[in-house]
Amino acid sequence: MEHKSASSHPSASAAWKVPRSKAHLFNQEIEEKILQAIRPALFGDYWEYPSLLLEFEDKFSQFIGLEHVAAVQSGTAALILALKAAGLQSGDEVITVANSDMSTTSAIVNCGARPAFCDILASDYTINPELVESLISERTRGLLPVDLYGHPANIKQLQHVARRHGLFIVEDAALATASRDFGLPMGAFADLVCFSTTSTKQIGGIGNGGMVATADLSLREKLELYRSYGLSPAIKQNPHAGSDQQVDGLNLKMTPVNAAVVTLKLAYLPAWTERRKQIARQYETRLQDIEGITLASFRPESEPVRREFVLRVRNRDLVFDTLREQGIQAALNYFPPAHQRKVYREQNLPGSKTLTITEDISREILSLPIDPLLTEDDIDCVCDHLIEAVQA
Ligand SMILES: Cc1ncc(COP(=O)(O)O)c(C=O)c1O
Repeated sequence: MEHKSASSHPSASAAWKVPRSKAHLFNQEIEEKILQAIRPALFGDYWEYPSLLLEFEDKFSQFIGLEHVAAVQSGTAALILALKAAGLQSGDEVITVANSDMSTTSAIVNCGARPAFCDILASDYTINPELVESLISERTRGLLPVDLYGHPANIKQLQHVARRHGLFIVEDAALATASRDFGLPMGAFADLVCFSTTSTKQIGGIGNGGMVATADLSLREKLELYRSYGLSPAIKQNPHAGSDQQVDGLNLKMTPVNAAVVTLKLAYLPAWTERRKQIARQYETRLQDIEGITLASFRPESEPVRREFVLRVRNRDLVFDTLREQGIQAALNYFPPAHQRKVYREQNLPGSKTLTITEDISREILSLPIDPLLTEDDIDCVCDHLIEAVQA
């Protein structure tokens, strides 16, 4: 091992020659601005806290082009709240993919429903819209496509299927903040779209955070009930109404400190997005003709933000170990696919036996570092080691 642990924390970024995230270094660069932004949340009047959330929701709504935004405690919370607002109930089914974060499927299960798995496209690793209709049963209530790694799933095509069968679409864009498709931001073709602001995501807050956005006011009202103890704003403002809850609500609003930080960070998002795209181009130029490497490819309308730079490589496990030994913090994301994880593998969930591409790709994919603060030299260093390892 060339690299050494820089601190008592074995996974600290400084331990890697090329780490996956340098988010903490950017936080250090703008330390004064962060401290200034969170001051009202630390020392202000408790009753003013909602204004910090409202400010972020308003700014994010403008950014995403959807009128209603609910800021919540994590991307996982966003998915659960969106599914509840969409009306998902015990015994229902939701069609989704198996190559995703655990939150995607566990949000469905935590609403009392069950996932049905659809296979993916070998090109950009997102749901194959052509296969969705074959998975629809009488229990199917909705679709949960994932913009994995920041790659937009073809929600526009799914919309036709959803309309034909009366299904909702909840889009998991946890990794796709600032991606675009058909000229529009994520969520334009879904009923509800979910994002994450966990520290290393495109808008990295303090610890966990997330948002749900929608164009539909009635869905926004339901989100409010479920994230705020089951109380509507009207009841909350009426001192005589007491605790007249309307649904089994939860307490999942984003914290005011986090709202202040993500409001500040949102302003940097366009520049970071551009930098991520530049890095992706550098990777593509260096890696496109290398035997043993297959790059992701995209529909012409798709503008992925590249939260991860993911490719397929020959002898993946060996290449992965070699890169890590050289100090490159490569990662295996969403591996194994959900239907092969311990929690589901005995359940034979619908679609589990049809996931040929999902399974093939899970044995080949590798995520390379793509933090906006990485330099050209860092990316060259990753490419040098990767090419050497693939050709060994
Ligand atoms: C595709 C996907 N969906 C949902 C989530 C959950 O987001 P969070 O970690 O904010 O709960 C993640 C987390 O990385 C994710 O990758």
